[in-house]
Amino acid sequence: MKKSKITVVGSFIADLAFYTPQFPRDGESIIGHQLKMGPGGKGSNAATAASRSGGEVVMVTKVGRDNLADIGYNHYKNEGMTTDYFFVSDTTETGSAVIEVHAESGQNRIIVVPGANFDLTPDDVDKAEHEIVTSDVVLMQLEVNLDAAKRAIELAKKHGKIVVFNPAPAKDVPCGMFLGVDYFTPNESEAEFFSGITVDTDEDAFRAGKKLLELGVENVIITLGKRGAAFVSKSEQYIVPTTDLKAVDTTGAGDAFNGALCVALGEGLDILSAIKFANCVSSIAVTRKGSSDAMPKRCETKELLKKYYNIDL
Ligand code: RIB
Repeated sequence: MKKSKITVVGSFIADLAFYTPQFPRDGESIIGHQLKMGPGGKGSNAATAASRSGGEVVMVTKVGRDNLADIGYNHYKNEGMTTDYFFVSDTTETGSAVIEVHAESGQNRIIVVPGANFDLTPDDVDKAEHEIVTSDVVLMQLEVNLDAAKRAIELAKKHGKIVVFNPAPAKDVPCGMFLGVDYFTPNESEAEFFSGITVDTDEDAFRAGKKLLELGVENVIITLGKRGAAFVSKSEQYIVPTTDLKAVDTTGAGDAFNGALCVALGEGLDILSAIKFANCVSSIAVTRKGSSDAMPKRCETKELLKKYYNIDL
């Protein structure tokens, strides 16, 4: 199997996750079970998932000159991943997030302060152009400066690379932001934000997917949580059900999916198999607490892929 190379232009965030028996109401204090601090951020979680899934990964991000950045440097060192494109802001702190995780359902609520991620510039991205040239896939989200994300799309297109864009967290973007994206990968609420269509059923997902194609993207994959993912292109639409593994912490599920999808596409898998691979990575990730730390190794994914979809990789 060809090893794929992926460049991620995205966020690094230091996560502070609180595991709680219930979410507090306004003005209420709750006694939680556990605090977990560790590496997170939609970009970095996806980069970690891609690396553990067998990809060669270059992460382009920006951190502050502070202790929170050390969580990132240590994590990348432990993972054997490069920090050559960790740009440093002299004026803004490393991004951080407070995450509440419900102990029963594994559902979460997140407040992100993007910090230095919003200082990432198109010039920073240009410094990684030679990495994009040798990549198969380039992945972005909306947790960094939009000009930087846009520059990443431009460079990826210039060099004929596959562009995967995970529009998370959803926010207003300039007209034409997603033009040329090959795979647009919102979750249900992001799909609703960008299409105006509430996604409750499979039919809703297909309708939203068709609408999202109007953004100028080639293919839409809407992640549907426990139900799997919906694929929509001009000529096809179908649901790819996912496994029934029980979630204990859904933080980073979409990031796991996106990182894995990039690896599979970079290896040349067809899109249906690539989604199945991504479903497996995402379903294993949610069985564990944490964000980047929860991402599975390729051998674990291979086992689940065989067991659930009868695919040998
Ligand atoms: O997608 C999960 C991530 O969103 C967390 O790791 C947190 O950092 C926020 O960016």
